Amino acid sequence: MVQPKQTPERKAFYQRIDSHDLAPLWEVLHGLISPEPRSPCAPALWRYRDIRPFVMESGELITAAEAERRVLVLENPGLRGRASITHTLYAGLQLILPGERAPCHRHSQSALRFVVEGEGAHTAVDGEKTLMRPGDFVITPSGTAHDHGNDSERAMVWLDGLDIPLVQFLDASFAEGFGGEPQRLTRPVGDALARYGSGLLPVDYQARGPTSPVFNYPYARTREALETMRRREEWDPCHGLKMRYVNPVDGGYAMPTIGAFIQLLPPGFETLPYRSTDGTVYAVVEGSGATQVGDQTFTWEAHDVFVVPSWTWHHHRAEGDAVLFSYSDRPVHQKLGLWREQRGNALTP
Ligand SMILES: [Fe+2]
Repeated sequence: MVQPKQTPERKAFYQRIDSHDLAPLWEVLHGLISPEPRSPCAPALWRYRDIRPFVMESGELITAAEAERRVLVLENPGLRGRASITHTLYAGLQLILPGERAPCHRHSQSALRFVVEGEGAHTAVDGEKTLMRPGDFVITPSGTAHDHGNDSERAMVWLDGLDIPLVQFLDASFAEGFGGEPQRLTRPVGDALARYGSGLLPVDYQARGPTSPVFNYPYARTREALETMRRREEWDPCHGLKMRYVNPVDGGYAMPTIGAFIQLLPPGFETLPYRSTDGTVYAVVEGSGATQVGDQTFTWEAHDVFVVPSWTWHHHRAEGDAVLFSYSDRPVHQKLGLWREQRGNALTP
């Protein structure tokens, strides 16, 4: 598309219509309808060893109760000031110190927690408490009451992933607190996993919403599954061994707005280039390696977080065994018929 010329007559016309809240489409059309995604989201890496001291320092500045949630937001360098790691998603590192409680609240935004360090702190969702360990993937569905607490001896840090920017864009945010009181627990620890995440469902089960009723996918199970599957040596050239977390009720994504994935890359494995429309946040669970994102190369190790913007070529290289957790807005793209991917091994030379 060719940008129309600016002429004095046209400029004068634009000024006259401006006061009527009108604007000429032809001046902005090529920027609005781009030939391919042009995201302001930038490739970025947060090294845990660099930022962990700040996370811990925040624990001396403010209590979890006063902060409501004591979180340092991972702000994309291309989206500063917008509490966003991609255009649609939020990421933050939350700290809960021994003996602390983060008060109960609920909101429209869906949240995932991916545990980085510590063991034995808990999240309670809708009347059930789950104890969390590193690598656990924990969901707080939209609209459910949730609070966190740490009765262990150690600080706990987890990565929060939410659809805050997406919900904000849609002007659909509702939230409420419960006056600082912890929620009443009505079900035993582990009930949801046993009831919905064991290849079983209650015989007359009716889904209460689009989110998985399993709200903690323990890493021990996930890791064991990956370890068993690797024996077949069926490595996808672009992904290694990559699985998605699913809602056992319908096989869809575990969350309606966020897709979450886990992948294993064996030692020395180098993936082929890949890109898709869903800008993706990666959290390194185990191992070390490097990912080339566009023209940048990020070397990473356990607990680091990096982001791959929409439609950006990237490929991974693992040193030893590496496990990567990732999340993106893929379910939204797919529901709207907008999702697209391109695999490096499908390119013609
Ligand atoms: Fe929350």
